[in-house]
Amino acid sequence: MITSLRTAAASLLLAATALATPALADTGGTPTTATLHADTPGPTYDARIFTQFAEHLGNGIYGGLWVGNDKSIPNTNGFRNDVVAALRELKVPVIRWPGGCFADEYHWREGIGPQGKRPVKINTNWGGVTEPNAVGTHEYFELLRQVGAQAYISGNVGNGTAREMAEWVEYITSPAGSLADERARNGHKEPWALPLLGIGNELWGCGGNMRPEYAADETRRFGTFIKAPEGTRVLKIASGANAGDYTWTDTIMRLAGDQLDGLSLHYYTVPGGGWPPRVPAVGFDEHSWAETLAGARRMDELITRHSAVMDKYDPAKRVFLAVDEWGTWYAQDPGSHPGFLRQQNSLRDALVASTTLDIFARHADRVRLSAIAQMVNVLQAMVLTEGRKMVLTPTYHVFMMYRPWQDATVLPIDIVTPWYAKDEFTMPAVSGSAVRDKAGAVHVALSNRDPNQANTVTVKLAGLAATSASGQVLTAAAMDAHNTFAAPDAVRPAPFNAATIQNGVLNVTLPPKSVVVLDLR
Ligand code: AHR
Repeated sequence: MITSLRTAAASLLLAATALATPALADTGGTPTTATLHADTPGPTYDARIFTQFAEHLGNGIYGGLWVGNDKSIPNTNGFRNDVVAALRELKVPVIRWPGGCFADEYHWREGIGPQGKRPVKINTNWGGVTEPNAVGTHEYFELLRQVGAQAYISGNVGNGTAREMAEWVEYITSPAGSLADERARNGHKEPWALPLLGIGNELWGCGGNMRPEYAADETRRFGTFIKAPEGTRVLKIASGANAGDYTWTDTIMRLAGDQLDGLSLHYYTVPGGGWPPRVPAVGFDEHSWAETLAGARRMDELITRHSAVMDKYDPAKRVFLAVDEWGTWYAQDPGSHPGFLRQQNSLRDALVASTTLDIFARHADRVRLSAIAQMVNVLQAMVLTEGRKMVLTPTYHVFMMYRPWQDATVLPIDIVTPWYAKDEFTMPAVSGSAVRDKAGAVHVALSNRDPNQANTVTVKLAGLAATSASGQVLTAAAMDAHNTFAAPDAVRPAPFNAATIQNGVLNVTLPPKSVVVLDLR
C-alpha cells in the first residue's frame, strides 16, 4: 500500500530544505567534499538487507522462475537455469515468499503432495488468474537450494489459523513426528532451516484490515505457537507499518515488541502524485526523474522516525526493522496483464536502488533486513523474462556492484554536496556509503543524482592508508535508458579507472546520472 510523496508533511519538509539551501538553482561546477571515517567503524551492513521478495503475482513465480515440465526452457527441477544462475551470481542471501498479499490467503497444505492433485485456486489479489499451487513448500526450498539463499516465509494470519501456521513451521523444521514423516513421504526426509518467519503481511490492509491493537494481539497469539526444534531459532517478524504510520509501529512495539525479533516496514516510491501509479517506467521527463528520486529519499526520514519510536521500547535495538517491501511502483507496462505489476526498469531505478542502499548503511544499527519488491518480472525487478528470454535490469547491476556490502562493516561517510533541483523537487546531488569487507578491503559507492551535471568529489580518507582506487560505473546517455531483449546490454557496468588517491584524498568525477563503486587499495 502506498503513500504519495506529496503529503503535507513531505511538502513542508521540501520547503524547509529549499529555504535552508540558497544556492539551489545554480549548482553547476560546485564540487562535493566528503570524509570517510575508516577510523570510527560503524555496525555491520547485514547481508539480509539484500533479501529478495518473490510473490505469487503475475510472472514473479510462474514463467519467471518456475517453468515446470516445459522442456523448451532449460531448467533444473522446474526452475529456469538462466534466472537461477543470475540470482546465484548476485549472492541473494534470503528469498521472502509466498507474499505479499498472497501470503494471507495461502494455505500451505494446498502446495504439498503430488502436483497433479493440488487444488487450483484463484489468485484474488493479483489479476484473478488461476493459481496451480505447482510451487509450494518443497519447490520453494528447492529454489533456495539452487540459488544458495535462506528462507523467509510469510505466514497466513489473515484467513489462516495459528494452528495452521504452527504446523507449517513444524512440517518444515521438525526432525521427527507425523508431519516430519509426511515431509519425508513427499520427498524430503531432512528438516529444512527456517531462520525467518513473517507473522502475516500488511495486517493493516490486505492481511485483514486490522487495527494496530488487534494486530498486536494476533501477532502475540500466532507467535506463541511458533516453536523451533531444539538448537534452532525461527526469528519472528511482525507485520509493520505502511510508510509513515508511526502509530502502527508504536502500538505493535508497545503491545507485542517483547515477543518479536523484527518489525517490518513497507514503503514504495510512487511518483505521479498518488494512487494508482500513473507514471510510466520509461519515456518520462526530468520532472519525473527528480520526483522519483526525492520519493526514494523519503526512506531516510521514515527509518529515522520509525527507529525513534522503536527506541522508546527497545533502546538496545534488539528488534530489527525489516524494510521487507521497497522499490518503485509505476504504471504497468502498456499491454501487460492487468494486475501483474510488470514494469520496465531504467537508469532511474538504478539510482533509486543506490540511494536506498546508501540510506540503509546510515541505519544499519536498526535495519538488518530489507527486501526489494520484487525479484523477477514484478515492480522493481532484478530480471525480466519473456518466454525463453531473460534480461538483467539496471537495478540488478547496482545490487551486483554493492555485493561487497554484504556483512561488511559500515564506514561512516559525511558528504557535503551541492543540491540538485528540478521544479519543486530538491535533493543533495551526491549520495554515498562505504564499507570494509571481512578481508579488510574498503569499498566506496558514490551516486550522482543530477542528470545534467558531472560532479567532482574529493573524499578525505581518515584512518585509511589507501593509495589507489578502481571500480565500475553504471550510467547511460538517457535518464530512461533500459535493457530490452533486443538490446540487453544498453545499461551495464563499465570499468572505471578515473579515480585517484593523493595524500590521503580520493578524487573522482562522477558523470551525470551515474553510480560509481570503487575498491580502494
Ligand atoms: O509487492 C506488491 C504488494 O505490495 C504486496 O503483495 C503487498 O504486500 C504490498 O501492498
